[in-house]
Formats: sequence, C-alpha cells, structure tokens
Amino acid sequence: MSGPNSDYDPVEVTPLKAEEVEAARDAALAAIAAAADLEQLKTVRLDHVGDRSPLALANREIGALPPAARKEAGARVGQARGAVNKALGERQAVLETEHEARILVEEAVDVTLPVDRRPAGGRHPLTTGAELIADIFVAMGWEVAEGPVIEAEWLNFDALNLGPDHPARTMQDTFWTDPAENHLVLRTHTSPVQARTMLSRGVSEDAPIYVVCPGRVFRTDEYDATHSPMFHQVEGLAIDKGITMAHLKGTLDHFAGQMFGEGINTRFRPSYFPFTEPSAEVDLVCFVCRGTGLNDAGTDPCRTCRGEGWIEWGGCGMVNPRVLRACGIDADTYSGFAFGMGIERTLMFRHGLEDLRTLFEGDVRFTTAFGSEL
Ligand code: DAH
Repeated sequence: MSGPNSDYDPVEVTPLKAEEVEAARDAALAAIAAAADLEQLKTVRLDHVGDRSPLALANREIGALPPAARKEAGARVGQARGAVNKALGERQAVLETEHEARILVEEAVDVTLPVDRRPAGGRHPLTTGAELIADIFVAMGWEVAEGPVIEAEWLNFDALNLGPDHPARTMQDTFWTDPAENHLVLRTHTSPVQARTMLSRGVSEDAPIYVVCPGRVFRTDEYDATHSPMFHQVEGLAIDKGITMAHLKGTLDHFAGQMFGEGINTRFRPSYFPFTEPSAEVDLVCFVCRGTGLNDAGTDPCRTCRGEGWIEWGGCGMVNPRVLRACGIDADTYSGFAFGMGIERTLMFRHGLEDLRTLFEGDVRFTTAFGSEL
C-alpha cells in the first residue's frame, strides 16, 4: 500500500526537517549571491531549484505527509522556495544589466579612430582601356595579336613599304638600338604586328585574318600634354576575299559607337601612308558638340573641335598590295584593310582628360577613379 498512514512520523522525513530546509535555502542564497555571471547563475538555478534540487525533493515529500503535518511543512518549504526564486530573479536582473553594460563598452566603435588607410588601388585605365578595345573586336569575332616592343627594322619599316630611302622613315622619330648592325628598333607603331601576323599565319579562305593588336610604341618625342616618347596604339588588320573600304568604314563606325556612344561615327579624309592604298585619316564626330561645331549656348565655336564638328582619331586604308606581297599573301586573291590609332588619345576623348601625362604619372588618386571600370 502506498500513501500516508497514521503511523507516519514527519520528523523522520529528513528533507523536510526545518534545519534541512533552512540549510538548503541558505546554500541556494549563497550560491546565487556568488554567481558572477549569467552562465553561472544558470547552473545555480539548476542545482537549487531544478527537479533534483534539495528544495524540489522536499516539496515532493510534502504530499506523502499526513494531512495534519502538510500545512506546516508546506509553508516552510514554500517560503524557502519563494525566497530562493526571488533572489534568483533579482540576481538575474542585476547580472543582465551588468552584461549589457559590458557589451556596450566592449563592442563600442570609436568612429573618430582613423580608417584603414591602405588604398585598395585600381587597374590602370590604359590596361582596362586596351582590354575594352580588344573586347569590342573580340565580340565581332576578331582575335587579339601581340608582338615584341624591340622589333626588327625590316618588320617595323621595310615590310610595310617603308624602304630604306623612303622619306616617311625619317618622319617616324625612331629609337635605334646598339649595335646598329643588329637592325633592331623600339617599334615606332603597332603596324609591324600586321606583318608578323600575315607572315606567321598566312591566309586562306577558311582562315581569313581579323586581328586587333594593342601595344606599346616609342618615338623620340618631347614629353608634354599631347606627346610622350612612349605611348600605346591599337592596330587592326582584316585580310579576306572581297574586302572593301566599305567594310573598313563600317568597322570603324561600330568601334567609335561602342567606344564613345551611339551617334559618334567617323568620316574619312584622303591621306597617305606607305602601307595602305588608298589611305585616309579617320575623324570622329566631336563628342562634345556632337558635330554642331558650336558651344552649349550655340554662340561660339566648340572648344574641343575648334568649330570643326570633327576630331582626328587615327589613320587607315586598304592594305597596300606591296605589303601583302612582302608578307607572302596573294594580292590578286585577297585584299584587306588596316587602321591604327593612339590608345591614350582614345581614352582622353572617352574620359575628357586634358593632359596625356596624367596617364603616365602613376598618381593613385587618378587611377583609383577608374579602378572600378572593368
Ligand atoms: N602606323 C600608323 C602610325 O603610327 C597608323 C596607321 C595608319 C596604322 C594607317 C594603320 C593604317 O594600320 O592603315 O602613324
């Protein structure tokens, strides 16, 4: 049989003895007071009011007492538990406040401290600009070709119909290298990459040539706002059956539109280059006045194109059959066009730069502004 019986002596139930209950309560209160943080208080709570704690055990014993003894025992245990729970609640509140105050101090951000001053840097606009140009042509199915900056005199000049006595040879202010008998120059233009491509690949109906060649070139020029002894050009070469000047015009109009925005197309002016026949200078619709030749107010000539409505961009033409022959191409079967322009000049137009030297001086404040352009 279970349950209370009249012989039951409550005094013998150890957990309910007054001194046991008091001891359990005092132990709990001491542990609560000693809990230094919320984590410790959690353990204290488990130990002293949890299911297996002395006071919880005592509470459970009450039901087993004879009714007469229950009241007093219940009051004693109830008071003890009440005191412990109250102390727990108060300690919890104190520790939470402390915890929050500590977080506020530990995680405070001093907005007046200096930032990390290492600059992130940026890719140079000449690099990204050359890539952009290459991408415009790659999107049309062209390939990118490169050549060395120290170039054979023959490829830089002779192969391009600039023979030893050609007057145009002296117009390209050349850096010659020592010893002279090696016949090496710092290339004065990217046009030798044309010759290299034709010579190394040849051309066939299945494999026509469509290459774009960005690269560094050198001339004995002064260093000023519009000249530099080292600069960059981009060369284009198309060799196929039935190529005409109309293809050249269409290609350059597309290039200009992609580079400077829709509506900025090109015009050709008759010119002379030994490697092309016929040859032309390529002009762009002035991207400032968009061809009107007038300033914004319409009162004075546009300052960028000096009222012309056009600005000079580069040179182009139909590849001279003499060049095709020098490079092993059957000039009766194939024809082609070529063009070349300065990359710095192109970028100066595109970004409204006034001084070429900003592209060479390596000032990170300048390059960073372009850093995000892909
Ligand atoms: N090589 C010329 C220069 O440096 C630019 C040029 C003009 C390239 C006409 C060409 C071209 O391919 O057809 O001034």
